[in-house]
Amino acid sequence: MTHSPLLRSDETLFRDPGAFEFTFVPEHLHHRDAQVRELAYLIRPALRGGSPGSAVLRGPPGTGKTTTVRRIFATITEETGRIIPAYVNCRQNRTPAAVYRCIFEELFGYAPPQTGRHLDEIKQGIVARLQEKDAHLLVCLDDANYLVAADTYNLLLYQLLRLYERWDVRGSGVFAVTSDLRLNLYAEADGPVRSVFHPLEVFFPSYGKAEIRGILGDRVRQGLYPGVMPASLLNRIAGITADEQDIRVGIDLIRRAVSRAETDGRRRVTPGDVTAAARAVIAPVLQTRVAGLSAGERALLCRIAERSQKGADMASGSVFEEVQDYLPVRKTTYYEHLKHIAKTGIVDLVSGTGRGREVRLRYDPGEVAAVCRHPD
Ligand SMILES: Nc1ncnc2c1ncn2[C@@H]1O[C@H](COP(=O)(O)OP(=O)(O)O)[C@@H](O)[C@H]1O
Ligand SMILES: [Mg+2]
Repeated sequence: MTHSPLLRSDETLFRDPGAFEFTFVPEHLHHRDAQVRELAYLIRPALRGGSPGSAVLRGPPGTGKTTTVRRIFATITEETGRIIPAYVNCRQNRTPAAVYRCIFEELFGYAPPQTGRHLDEIKQGIVARLQEKDAHLLVCLDDANYLVAADTYNLLLYQLLRLYERWDVRGSGVFAVTSDLRLNLYAEADGPVRSVFHPLEVFFPSYGKAEIRGILGDRVRQGLYPGVMPASLLNRIAGITADEQDIRVGIDLIRRAVSRAETDGRRRVTPGDVTAAARAVIAPVLQTRVAGLSAGERALLCRIAERSQKGADMASGSVFEEVQDYLPVRKTTYYEHLKHIAKTGIVDLVSGTGRGREVRLRYDPGEVAAVCRHPD
């Protein structure tokens, strides 16, 4: 069948628009076999009458932590009945009352009544359900760093892991998740909690470009009609995503590029669609990064961007020589500024053959210069 090149107004390029939402759980979870195996190992004792183990899941944003837990929880619900999983988004639920309400809802399928309910009654409801099913509770505290910030982390861990002491229920387990690598969720646990919290640490490393290409390719097959996204453009999107180190950027780029083609009534994504999408997705990231710089660092970055636009020598020594004429900085300050700009992820300092390391911008130089001149 041949298609007319133009899309009719009632046609869409999206086979499944939901595939590009961040809460989407993909059919196939790539490159996470090791993590799934480790977590499954913790659950196994509960199938033979013991308690499920606890875990701390760590890894940068967009490395599949939430998706992995959701996949495992879905399997547990389907297959065992000996464990009742409860997923809690701690970004949205930071107080003990909110967390218990959320667990209640996971167990019953509906929220506890808003009014006239004491927190203890919600807990009693949870306990009654566990007794009735004779099951272990397994709670995922996703983005648990928000509980640490709200100072509710220790209380919740203590209560959840010692549920069996106060009530006649089976032992429970907790999966605590964080994308903040500076935070150690085991070290944050105080003495009384540590006596019952012996988590296995499961690490989720960033994906490489080939892995990103595979995950995005799969998403394209699930979510778009064939032929909509040319392979070369998907490669370009995978490259941008790898630079940004967050798979969400890639999913967002695909959705925006395809929407743009659809709005224009085209059946196929063009390089222009990807460029426009990248501008929309990347600009806020760049803006946030530039906003985190001091005035002096921003002035230096602006010079670097202008120099790079002209195609001049980008060795750090040569850049310093030029910058000296414009900015009142000493050599040590210059290198401190440069190091901080690199740390925020706007430039890379690559060892080269010139005078010092090469200063390489991660973003389009024109755009960097523009953002530096108008930081808000
Ligand atoms: N291994 C993977 N296979 C398929 N999709 C993935 C994988 N890892 C992440 N994703 C997708 O990337 C997005 C972000 O993943 P998520 O699990 O929310 O990351 P995290 O919780 O680590 O920040 C989701 O849309 C998810 O479906
Ligand atoms: Mg997550």
